[in-house]
Amino acid sequence: MYKRLFFVAIGLWLVTLSVVATLFLRGITTPGSDGRTAISLTTSERDFVLGEMRGMLGAVQGVIEGIAANNASAVAKAASSGGLAIEAGVPVTLMAKLPLDFKHQGMAMHTGFDELAAAATRGESSALLTARLAEHINLCIGCHQSFRFNQTP
Ligand code: HEC
Repeated sequence: MYKRLFFVAIGLWLVTLSVVATLFLRGITTPGSDGRTAISLTTSERDFVLGEMRGMLGAVQGVIEGIAANNASAVAKAASSGGLAIEAGVPVTLMAKLPLDFKHQGMAMHTGFDELAAAATRGESSALLTARLAEHINLCIGCHQSFRFNQTP
């Protein structure tokens, strides 16, 4: 009797584990109508991420403006606004819905901004900073080519 209960418990545990593992890797996604992977988020989660995205565009704008003005501290300040620190506020429930690959690309983007800020601070030339930025924007392009959002209530 206890033995059977034991196996039922182990079985349920394995099912839970595999659901959690799948969620961790794939997030909550469906194939998008345009060939991209569509991540299903609630309206407020989607609003939150898109708000962050607009912040990323603002960071790119600030970096370009700083480079054009030869102002290293302005470049560093704008780049830092897209850095890893802003990830601290992301709710865990939202994180769980994002596929692992999306999280990797998001992390690469934030650490890239931090590296750009550090490069500006140590006085890298405008040409090098511009080249870094051009390379960095490929991360934006890459993720936008792979993912979009679905809106669920
Ligand atoms: C980890 C993936 C990822 C990365 C990296 C990423 N984005 Fe996005 N971004 C998205 C997704 C997904 C959307 C929503 C696209 C859709 O639903 O069609 C989006 C949307 C946006 C939007 C539209 C916001 C709105 O209000 O509709 C802007 C602007 C944007 N991103 C800017 C950027 C910039 C600039 C970068 C790079 C510095 C960047 N993103 C990097 C995934 C990413």
